[in-house]
Amino acid sequence: MRSPKDFFKAKALGAPEPLREIPVRPSRMIHFFNPGNERMRTKIPDLAKRCDVLLGNLEDAIPADEKIQAREGLVKCANEVDFGDCQLWTRINSLDSPWCLDDLVTLVQEIGDQLDVIMVPKVEGAWDIHYVDQLVAQLEARAAIKKPIMLHAILETALGVANVEEICAASPRMQGLSLGPADLAASRRMKTTRVGGGHPGYLVREDPAEGKDDDARAVAQQDLWHYTTARMVDACAANGILPYYGPFGDIKDELATEDQFRNAFLMGCVGAWSLHPVQIDIAKKVFSPPVDEVKWAINVIEQMGDGTGTVMIDGKMQDDATYKQCKVMVGLAEMLAEKDADLKEAYGL
Ligand code: GLV
Ligand code: MG
Repeated sequence: MRSPKDFFKAKALGAPEPLREIPVRPSRMIHFFNPGNERMRTKIPDLAKRCDVLLGNLEDAIPADEKIQAREGLVKCANEVDFGDCQLWTRINSLDSPWCLDDLVTLVQEIGDQLDVIMVPKVEGAWDIHYVDQLVAQLEARAAIKKPIMLHAILETALGVANVEEICAASPRMQGLSLGPADLAASRRMKTTRVGGGHPGYLVREDPAEGKDDDARAVAQQDLWHYTTARMVDACAANGILPYYGPFGDIKDELATEDQFRNAFLMGCVGAWSLHPVQIDIAKKVFSPPVDEVKWAINVIEQMGDGTGTVMIDGKMQDDATYKQCKVMVGLAEMLAEKDADLKEAYGL
């Protein structure tokens, strides 16, 4: 094990000093775009005004013969567009692919100062992060980058889930994790053919009862992603980094998208991927805390004074622990209110 004393030393001579804390900025949606598509690139300035994070995707969904065009398009886009307070991320190709090395070399060299986060797909263990960490440090040093580029791992292999804690702790660059339900389903040999969301066959059924037909027995669909989301949230929180739900592929099912995102929000995720512009507003709605909850939380904090002891509000017991929950809710609301004047007014902040 590396000595804790060395953990915050730059991994290459001339690379910026590692961050001691991951900056928490609004990142309710990570909106994916294909940077190789010229028509798409013309929409980026407008999307930057609507999104917390824009991600130039180089990996899956980009055909093999368009990989270089996508990489070059991202460089062009980063150099030409003013992203304002929208973060720019990329998803590089996987470490075993023929494109990954040139993705990293080109992007850090050409646009390393503009890139906030590099998303690394199919991460299986700490060794994958150590490799990228070292290489990025060398490239940052060569390009004289001032601010360390952060790393984000997609949790999308069975081995990655088994090693989730060590992945989160592998480098001070680690910014967060996203659940990748599509690749994870394939890696686990799950018998599904979809990108995230539930499945009508994964359910529990009410017990049989005298005189009740089987098809009248109530069923409730269960969440296939609960276990992994829970592991991801705990591993991230334990390591001071941020968890995200990933893609929801049924674009036209806006209600189920909203449900999946809300489950993730309630469990502790800070955002989700958006694969289509309609999902931007769904994520914005879901990952901004509801106005009534924020007002309730403000009231609890006020009535709890120094945050110790108990008070009863509307018949509900509040104590130090609910005070802390309310602080989380109001802290998030305050951060979002700084970015969004409508939310500021709605929250009364
Ligand atoms: C995302 O990359 C996924 O595989 O779900
Ligand atoms: Mg994937």
